[in-house]
Amino acid sequence: MEKTVKTTWINARIFDGDRELPELMALTIQDSLILNLIPMSQISKASFSTSSDTLIDLQGLLITPGLIDSHTHLVFAGNRANEFAARLEGKTYAEIATQGGGIMSTVKATREASEERLLALAQQRLNCFIAEGVTSIEIKSGYGLDVDSELKLLRVARKLAENNPIRIQTTLLGAHALPPEFKNAPDDYIDLVCETMIPQAADLGLADAVDVFCEGVGFTVAQCQKIYQAAAKHGLAIKAHTEQLSNLSGSQAAAEAGALSVDHIEYLDEQGIKAMAQHGTVATLLPGAFYILKETQKPPVALLRQYQVPMAIASDANPGTSPIMSLRLMLNMACTLFELTPNEALQGVTSNAAQALGLAQITGTIKPGMQADLCIWDTTTSAELSYSIGLPTLKQRIFAGK
Ligand code: NIG
Ligand code: FE
Repeated sequence: MEKTVKTTWINARIFDGDRELPELMALTIQDSLILNLIPMSQISKASFSTSSDTLIDLQGLLITPGLIDSHTHLVFAGNRANEFAARLEGKTYAEIATQGGGIMSTVKATREASEERLLALAQQRLNCFIAEGVTSIEIKSGYGLDVDSELKLLRVARKLAENNPIRIQTTLLGAHALPPEFKNAPDDYIDLVCETMIPQAADLGLADAVDVFCEGVGFTVAQCQKIYQAAAKHGLAIKAHTEQLSNLSGSQAAAEAGALSVDHIEYLDEQGIKAMAQHGTVATLLPGAFYILKETQKPPVALLRQYQVPMAIASDANPGTSPIMSLRLMLNMACTLFELTPNEALQGVTSNAAQALGLAQITGTIKPGMQADLCIWDTTTSAELSYSIGLPTLKQRIFAGK
């Protein structure tokens, strides 16, 4: 039998995914899992030094779960700096999209790029997240919009998981925008997504979930519902971009279809929130897109609290609305732009983000039996992670015990 390896940190300040624990703790991991978490007042140092291979005194420094980014579009080619400039001159995101820019301009560059090129570009972006303590990340397709190109993007995402110490959940976002080949036949494109893309992605084991862009510049609620049915039929989880630019009641429809999360949700109303509460759907806030688009309509945070809908915070890293390769920055933006408390923001990138990915039984919280995905920070207070941009420094990142 292989020898197990135990590591113990003593005098650790712990944010456990839900709150900062009042007492200093001793945390022990064994191989890839968390073994136990015990208040310092209940243990003697001697007992640990004999039972652990490594014993580290943190002297009050903070340990959090490894951070989780539950919404990114990391695999694409090209950039949209020109659209950023056009928006600064007064054009809106929707106008640019209807004039053939927006998502479609990234689709063109992405279709033309080889798998190797896409992998290299996505690796650079992923490095940013790994460096700041992210141990689980979701990656969507959505810039291919034909069967081969969408599968190509998903293969790149799976390859990234093979090559890096990080857990990657992949999401098929075939219904991100209407490709030009289907200009006057959106329902035919939805059929292609439901009858070919989803079954192939599922059969090849390339997707964990399916996502849609439910919006005036995207797809209707009825079209999205067809996609939810196809996803469910193939055993894939459901996620949705809803209520970003207008209210179509897309969040309610997604919640009723059993969606893990609905994301953006600036225009979400109380009826949608009730449906989310009833079906256990997470509200994913994307402050980076709100900031870049200079939106003024804020997500209904007070109502989400009132109905106890868990809130996740994600980067939405993408070339159009959120060219931001930082989840740490989102902690600050969720507080400054959406008035989340620092504690809520941290829940949003740990326990609630895990729930938004269907990973709540595996990661996102510090308790016995969970994966040892941890970050050790050069601070003694968890609020500093949301308060400061750039500090505190990540001292150590541990993924599955390593
Ligand atoms: O999450 N809203 C739709 N999709 C992305 C933007 C994609 C793009 O503009 O390239 C988002 O904001
Ligand atoms: Fe997105």
